[in-house]
Amino acid sequence: MFRLLALPLLALALTALAARYGLGPPLTEEAVAAYDLRPIVLPDGRGLPPGEGRVAEGERIYQARCASCHGATGEGYPFNRLVSEPFPITPEMEPAEYAIGNYWPYATTLFDYIRRAMPFGDPGTLTDEEVYHLVAWLLYMNGITDLDDPINQDTLPQIRMPARELLDLDPETARRFPWLTLP
Ligand code: HEC
Repeated sequence: MFRLLALPLLALALTALAARYGLGPPLTEEAVAAYDLRPIVLPDGRGLPPGEGRVAEGERIYQARCASCHGATGEGYPFNRLVSEPFPITPEMEPAEYAIGNYWPYATTLFDYIRRAMPFGDPGTLTDEEVYHLVAWLLYMNGITDLDDPINQDTLPQIRMPARELLDLDPETARRFPWLTLP
């Protein structure tokens, strides 16, 4: 019982302290709305907004907004590596070697993740169109698409990622949800 009460009480105490010491600006409705990214983009492409991405535009945006943390060609310094050969991962590989080309099973997740979380520290500042451009560049750099492939709500769900082959429903999930199939 104590534990059940402890969290709400702590939250209340912190809110009261923040108000008393004038910590942080109050959240505006617009600020909350900027994080309210619905619908979520699903692996089969449901939820993708209109827009279209091109590699050349993506390169420009990437250099301005992403390269400082992920390296000029996505090689990953100081943060995560984003570009890899589309070879499958092996048990011997270090997690630092996992990247989009060898680890991500669905191309659509890239759109959702970047729109939701990047650039780190400033999420929510990219337009849907910019996210499509970035996805186009990242897929091209990972050797998955060609330079001229347009990336939009129709084409993105059709891209078969190399790591999709590695993804399987675990037997317990398959037993409990026999109707469930992976796109
Ligand atoms: C200030 C540094 C910073 C900037 C700028 C930044 N990122 Fe990131 N990015 C990170 C960090 C840190 C992570 C790991 C986050 C985590 O694991 O929770 C990450 C993770 C990622 C991942 C997931 C990698 C994986 O395979 O797990 C992608 C994709 C990505 N960023 C794309 C972008 C794109 C596109 C931009 C530009 C719009 C961008 N990032 C800008 C710091 C940054």
